Amino acid sequence: MLSFKRAFKFIFCLTLVVGLVKVGYSEQNQGLSDSGGLMSSSQSGELSFTLPYEGLSAKLGKRFIKGHEQFDEIWVLAPAPGVWGLGPTFNEANCVGCHPKNSRAQPAKDGAEIEKGNVIKLGHRGAKGEVVPSHPWYGDQLQNRAAENRVPIEGNAQVTFEYSQFTYPDNTSVTLKRPIIRVKNLNFGDLDESTVVSMRIAPQVIGLGLLEWVSEQNLLEIAERQKKEGLSGRPNYVIDLETERAVIGRFGWKAAQPNLKQQTAVAFHSDIGATTFFFPEKNCPQIQVGCRELPSAAKCGGQGGCTGNNFRPEVLPSRLKNITTYLQALNIPERRIEDPEETLAGEILFRDSGCASCHVPTLVTGENTILKELNNMSFHPYTDLLIHDMGEQLSDHRPEGSATGQEWRTPPLWGIGLVNTISGSLGLLHDGRAASIEEAILWHGGEALSSRQKFVDLAKPERERVIKFINSL
Ligand code: HEC
Ligand code: HEC
Repeated sequence: MLSFKRAFKFIFCLTLVVGLVKVGYSEQNQGLSDSGGLMSSSQSGELSFTLPYEGLSAKLGKRFIKGHEQFDEIWVLAPAPGVWGLGPTFNEANCVGCHPKNSRAQPAKDGAEIEKGNVIKLGHRGAKGEVVPSHPWYGDQLQNRAAENRVPIEGNAQVTFEYSQFTYPDNTSVTLKRPIIRVKNLNFGDLDESTVVSMRIAPQVIGLGLLEWVSEQNLLEIAERQKKEGLSGRPNYVIDLETERAVIGRFGWKAAQPNLKQQTAVAFHSDIGATTFFFPEKNCPQIQVGCRELPSAAKCGGQGGCTGNNFRPEVLPSRLKNITTYLQALNIPERRIEDPEETLAGEILFRDSGCASCHVPTLVTGENTILKELNNMSFHPYTDLLIHDMGEQLSDHRPEGSATGQEWRTPPLWGIGLVNTISGSLGLLHDGRAASIEEAILWHGGEALSSRQKFVDLAKPERERVIKFINSL
């Protein structure tokens, strides 16, 4: 009996291997466990999103540790003891407050206030219907907290869900929920129909260094390849504020930020309220006089007090550098492949359903990594960093860079299987609406519609294999 089982297993594997070699799929390095190449770690516990690449030099290692401390550090309003520069309006007082253990935030709950890692981005529709990604009174993000007793909050928002039922051809059904946002307690005037509201969940922040180091050429080649497959993935060109050049955006749900340093500066400005050389002005729209006039650390030169007229940002460049290094050097947990046959079968179905066209298994770093041995290294994030039209159901009607309301960056799928363990809940897609991988797939539309249909047409055990595969990433 045993030997039969073994023989069966052997033949099964052989068939898979032959199948893979035949289609050249093995070149993609499938089935291997080290998603991050050299930047992989074997731990898969609660802290597995916080581990550094082990080959860091002493200097970078120190910077990583500092960066970790500063990612966690709580900002305060001057003159309270602590790091000055919070607010006057803000959403959270530290990075980790929204990216718990570097993982995804908890999704917003039905009927509750939107907070802690879920933010509301605003836009404004002009007379001709064009939308600018900012509101004249409230700016580009609604700040639901402020310097207590000194400055009013901008307002807050509440989410309720609209539920619907999806039924597969085999009669299995799944409940889907779509968020309806209600903005309330507004202190600077009501929002009218011209306002565009977009909820975003804070994603996990792992393996981002690798994504930053992929060459533009590599991404453009993928976009070319996709054209031939009838997809229209394209880069979101955005301005790199340091070089003032248009470059490919990579970070954020619409790939609106080109690199980790700028992404960090944006976070300090919109989420925490602290100034940088990138954003020297406080995050206070014109109409919010109290916010503009509150004395801040920025005016007086950050931690150092007033030293002449030279502007010193609240976030000193060294801090930005430390946090950037921290983000760059975070490892990817190895895959957890408990049932290799099922997982590999799921992986093939994933490819055959067209998922791998956007969730591209393998990318390669360029020549400018922080350490030489990471140059030209293959790794497996399951993203193309390109933006895709995902259909009306996922649209937030708010453009960002060259991305339209319907366009979103393909999110990397690595680590997704651990989010539930680490965050204690799973909120997939840009607004966290999907509580499972299956729900996330069912929301795919637009360019991904035919791929979604292929998934829907699979038999239940096959669908389960696809999900098992994604959970192993
Ligand atoms: C108030 C909550 C909040 C705080 C505080 C916050 N973030 Fe975020 N973060 C988000 C959200 C929401 C997004 C998604 C943004 C988007 O797509 O619009 C995000 C995105 C990111 C990304 C991009 C990840 C990716 O996969 O593209 C990085 C990196 C990041 N944040 C780092 C930081 C750092 C560093 C800090 C502290 C300086 C910070 N965040 C503070 C909510 C927060
Ligand atoms: C046309 C490109 C494209 C195709 C094809 C595609 N996806 Fe996606 N996928 C995306 C984009 C873009 C998002 C983000 C959408 C959003 O946040 O609103 C996404 C989101 C996801 C997510 C949620 C990830 C997260 O971090 O929240 C999962 C899981 C996923 N896709 C799995 C699949 C599977 C499985 C297939 C095949 C059946 C597939 N995708 C096909 C582009 C694609």
